[in-house]
Amino acid sequence: MLVHTIAEVREQIKKWKKEGLTVGLVPTMGALHAGHKSLIDKSVEKCDRTVVSVFVNPIQFCPGEDLDKYPRTLDEDNKLCEDSGVDIVFAPSPKEMYGEGHILSNDFLTYVIPPYFYVDKLCGKSRVGHFDGVCTVVNKLFNIVQPDFAFFGQKDAQQLIIIRKMVKDLNIPVEIIPCPIVREDSGLALSSRNKYLSAEEKEYALALSKILFNIKACYDKGVTDVRALTETAYAYLNNRHQLEYLEFRDENNLEEKTTADDNTRVFIAVKIGTVRLIDNISLH
Ligand code: PAF
Repeated sequence: MLVHTIAEVREQIKKWKKEGLTVGLVPTMGALHAGHKSLIDKSVEKCDRTVVSVFVNPIQFCPGEDLDKYPRTLDEDNKLCEDSGVDIVFAPSPKEMYGEGHILSNDFLTYVIPPYFYVDKLCGKSRVGHFDGVCTVVNKLFNIVQPDFAFFGQKDAQQLIIIRKMVKDLNIPVEIIPCPIVREDSGLALSSRNKYLSAEEKEYALALSKILFNIKACYDKGVTDVRALTETAYAYLNNRHQLEYLEFRDENNLEEKTTADDNTRVFIAVKIGTVRLIDNISLH
């Protein structure tokens, strides 16, 4: 069932809760691919009812980012959800989510702001305010859907860590279920933004997963010095790659590592042409 209003979702959720059914939420910005499908399948398997939200959240885009050209494919998304056993596809308009306040000015919106330590690094460094927008919309979705479980991909690992922190700090009664990254056979992590890549750029994009797999292989052979592990990356990069970051951090609290261990996650962001890609790998 495709619904566009908060009131319709609330009405349905109320009925399900009365019947004692568990609810899973898969928050998305649409342009669904096999990565999203894996989250949806997990929710459908685990929960009595599944809600997928499809909302290109304007307040998590920074000035100059791809808000206007972000792929919007609601008909296809709705079909994929229907075929996968989703009970509600919630596709609100920006006005439904934020009212006129947002459209006129962000200054009139109440935000959920994650701790500075979690957002002053990795993607938060170049995307200032991005995680405020993510936490605000995810918090709103939790309030609207009141899910027992919410499913997030590890592809956006910093986002996942920040959302877990928000849920813990604000005592939100939902269990966050992390889901593994889905990759093409080539190793490329699935992303809605892969659609922007030309065939040639897609070849260059393989550097991200190659770098991460190689670092993991070196770690498995006993190399733990982060400087030595970082140096292995340069063989995969050329002047078509603009490396934004390659960082080793604790996968629970994002503290920097100088010696890698089993709690380390390696994060990478690279711009190829105008397309910014991210990927990561856990070393355990
Ligand atoms: O990961 C995403 O697609 C978005 O950041 C999310 C969690 C749906 C919030 O808009």
